[in-house]
Amino acid sequence: MVARSIIVGCGTCLPARVVTNHDLAREVETTDEWIVERTGIRERRIAAPGETTSDLALAAGRAALDDAGMTAHDVDFLILATTTPDDTFPATAAKVQGRLGMTRGAAFDVQAVCTGFIYALAIADNFLRAGQARTALVIGAETFSRIVDWSDRATCVLFGDGAGAVMLARGEGKGTVADRGVLSTHLHSDGSQYDILRTDGGPSSTRGTGLVRMAGREVFRQAVQRQAEVVDEVLACHGLAASDIDWLVPHQANRRIIEATGRKLGLPAEKVVVTIERHANTSAASIPLALCEAVADGRIRRGQLVLVEAMGGGITWGAGLVRM
Ligand code: UT7
Repeated sequence: MVARSIIVGCGTCLPARVVTNHDLAREVETTDEWIVERTGIRERRIAAPGETTSDLALAAGRAALDDAGMTAHDVDFLILATTTPDDTFPATAAKVQGRLGMTRGAAFDVQAVCTGFIYALAIADNFLRAGQARTALVIGAETFSRIVDWSDRATCVLFGDGAGAVMLARGEGKGTVADRGVLSTHLHSDGSQYDILRTDGGPSSTRGTGLVRMAGREVFRQAVQRQAEVVDEVLACHGLAASDIDWLVPHQANRRIIEATGRKLGLPAEKVVVTIERHANTSAASIPLALCEAVADGRIRRGQLVLVEAMGGGITWGAGLVRM
């Protein structure tokens, strides 16, 4: 038998305020038509003044714990993927841990921008499989609205705020793709591409936090290429065909990128979970938000094979194969 990290609970949290493309068109030189045609986004949620990443992470984490029928005392590791921490330090995960009332275990943040949830899932899975933890609460949470340049129409229309979480528990399997749990994770980065998607500031480099700067076309090109590569890597790793995948849950950056990856896999559109229309790009939160929505509405069911994949700043990219 081999150890497996099984998803036993899911939770999400979205800020209440909806900002539509029409709302944005009143602030910057853009149109609903342009945004929908180029990205697939129609609206996004934006955190209220004073509403922080930890607020969203806490609510999503609590929902995942409730869904698993567990409490904070059952959590060994709390891993939070975020690019928009409440403060420069301590880790926002520590704040969530404190607010959950967890007095044991370990909590830390993971920073891999839009690939953050996959990185956090991989770290948690390895700790569980190594026997160093029995459970892990893995959260992706962001308030990208705080670091967007609201005068830059090329980026401000793309992002939204939110959080999603999964509770993992150590189980056992036979070491085959029929096992429930995380079957593999695949992480990559290429730091030579650091500049194509970044903020123009940070604690060590310059003044303040900095705002999002992106070479959109180049990021788009690399996103399509890297995500196609990593999807192939997952299939080859397990000797699977694309038709063996029940659901693709991609990072939600651009509908055209999502469709390109779906086409590459030969998956019909109904097998691809798409939330970008309503959530926009929520960075590290986008995959757990999409995954948990599709679990909650009954699309993704126990026993099905789910492929998650993402690309983001760094650049980072990665994928995971999970049998629910
Ligand atoms: O999550 C991490 C990964 N992120 C991504 O994967 C994002 C990747 N990039 C993209 O999704 C796309 O590159 C964008 C959606 C950001 C842009 O789409 P595009 O088709 O690459 O447009 P573009 O940047 O080449 O701009 C085309 C035109 C430009 O005008 P000119 O120079 O052709 O006259 C832009 O100024 O569209 C203009 N434009 C806009 N027009 C109306 C750029 N933003 C806007 C806007 N509204 N919001």
